[in-house]
Order: sequence, then C-alpha cells, then structure tokens
Amino acid sequence: MPGEPWWVERVSRRLLPGALDALDLGGLWRLSEGCRFVRDNVEERLLSSDFERAPGCEAVWRAFLARAAEVHLALETEGAVVAAQRTGGPVGARLFRESWESLGFTVNPQDSGTPADDHLDGLYRLPRHSDGPQVHTDASPNLSSRAERISDFLTVTQPGPKDVVIDLGSGSGKLALTVSASAATRVVGIELGERFVEVARATASSLSLPDVRFVHGDVRDADLSAGTIFFLYHPFRGQVAKDVAAQLGALARRKPIVVYAGGPLDGFGEHFLGQVSAGALALSERRGEFGQVLVLRSA
Ligand SMILES: C[S@@+](CC[C@H](N)C(=O)[O-])C[C@H]1O[C@@H](n2cnc3c(N)ncnc32)[C@H](O)[C@@H]1O
Repeated sequence: MPGEPWWVERVSRRLLPGALDALDLGGLWRLSEGCRFVRDNVEERLLSSDFERAPGCEAVWRAFLARAAEVHLALETEGAVVAAQRTGGPVGARLFRESWESLGFTVNPQDSGTPADDHLDGLYRLPRHSDGPQVHTDASPNLSSRAERISDFLTVTQPGPKDVVIDLGSGSGKLALTVSASAATRVVGIELGERFVEVARATASSLSLPDVRFVHGDVRDADLSAGTIFFLYHPFRGQVAKDVAAQLGALARRKPIVVYAGGPLDGFGEHFLGQVSAGALALSERRGEFGQVLVLRSA
C-alpha cells in the first residue's frame, strides 16, 4: 500500500503468521531476532506519524508488540526445557553434543544462520551480529564461533577429563559454553571485555555448567600453565598475536599442548608458524575451507 511504513510488510509477512508451539528453540530464536531487528530499526518517536499516514498500521504495531512478548516468553520456556535436558557426566555431554550437531550446518535459505547455530544462539541468547566495541587496537570485535567450527574443534582435539581447554578471547562464551556442555572436560575462557565476561558467566550459571569459568583480563597477563588445549578464533593480531604465540611456544617446550588457531595468516597465523620455525610447535594440519585453521602441537 502506498505510504505504508517499511515495517508493516515485514511484520505482517514474516513475524505474525504461524503458531509458536510448532517452533523449536532455533525457530523461536530466528523469530525473536526478527522482532529485535524491527524494534532496533523503528524510530518509536516517528510511530505516531506512521499511524496518521497509514491508518490501520497501528493495529499491526500493537499485534507485533504482543507477538514479540509471546515469542520472548516461548523462547524462555523452550530454553529452560533444553537446559533441563542437559545432565552432567560423559553421557549427558554426548547427548548435548548430538542435540546441536544433528541439526546440521547447512546455511538457512532465509538468513546466514544454520540450524545448529540457531539452536545454540537461542540457548545462550547470542545475537549473531558483532556485539559491542573493539576492546583494544589489536583486538577483533566480539564475534562468536560458528557451530561447525566448534564441532570441528571437538573432533580434532577430543578434550577429556584430564584436559583444560582455554579459549583465548572468549567473547560472550559460545565456544567455551558449548565445549563445556558437549565434553566431560574443564574449560576456561579469558576475555578483555568485562561486559562479555559478565554475559558468559550468567549464561554458564543459568545452564548450571560447573566446569567452565570466565576470567576477565588480557590473555598476555593470564597464567596459561594449566591449559592443555588452546582455542583461538582470530581474537587479536599484530604484536598481541606475536606475544601470545610466544607464550604458547614457551609452554609447548615444557609440556604437550594442542593449539587450534583460526584466522588469517597475515598478522595472525604467521606468528604461530614462527613458533614452528623456532622448534617449539609442530604444524599438525591446516583445516577449514581455506586452510585458515592451524592445528599445532608441541614439537
Ligand atoms: C572473535 S571473538 C571470539 C569469541 C569466542 N572465542 C568464540 O569463538 O565464540 C574474539 C574476542 O577476543 C577478545 N580479545 C581481544 N584481545 C584480547 C586480549 N588481549 N585478551 C583477552 N581477550 C581479548 C575480544 O574482546 C573478542 O571478544
């Protein structure tokens, strides 16, 4: 209809139709993210002029608000059901891992997510877009790992009860939380952004995950000596990457460790390969579509 605000079509076509009880956690999350998009992009102070210009759209807006509240409640309920199904121990961990991996990593036709990511992001309430400002000039923004990468990490490193997995730059905790819930192992996330640490801690506590903890600080100041498996999703570059690669190289000379480092060679991976040339680490393999993940082990 001419003069109709942009959101009317989006709300009427994508957000209002369909019964909520037909949706799983991932479906509810997609709907909730759709509602968030509209809320974030509609100027509330301009709504009254929208209502004057296109009579009828006020009713659509009211229906949208009711729907958004309903979606929020359904998401909370479904998240609590999924969380309650997660029991501790190796069997609970295996079942949890199956629950998201079995949904698959094929990109959704309607957005850039995948069913496995929708499920995990819905459980942790993680927006897919980058969240918050850069915390340091050499730091990457907080962007969570994709489920397919987490699955690959679990397959390659096979963390067990004797391991300590350390996520260097843990952001809002998606990798650390998922590893903790999917494997009988201990996990530590280290993160410079205080708000991200608070979010990750709150999620771990809401899911009653006992063996994951989040440390607020710079990875360069952290004691990494307890770690046996290290995960990096391009958290930093330049001098920070060089310093951290040297820290891991020094640790690798003292004990067996595995480093799973994803990111561009230029400014990041090159520093880990520097530790290979120095004889501290050995390059076990390159993984990922463009070989952008380096799997390194103590030489
Ligand atoms: C790309 S995110 C990765 C999130 C998480 N590892 C995951 O895979 O889901 C990288 C994170 O590293 C953090 N970071 C960057 N430099 C850091 C540093 N020196 N010490 C600790 N955290 C850092 C950033 O704040 C950001 O949240």
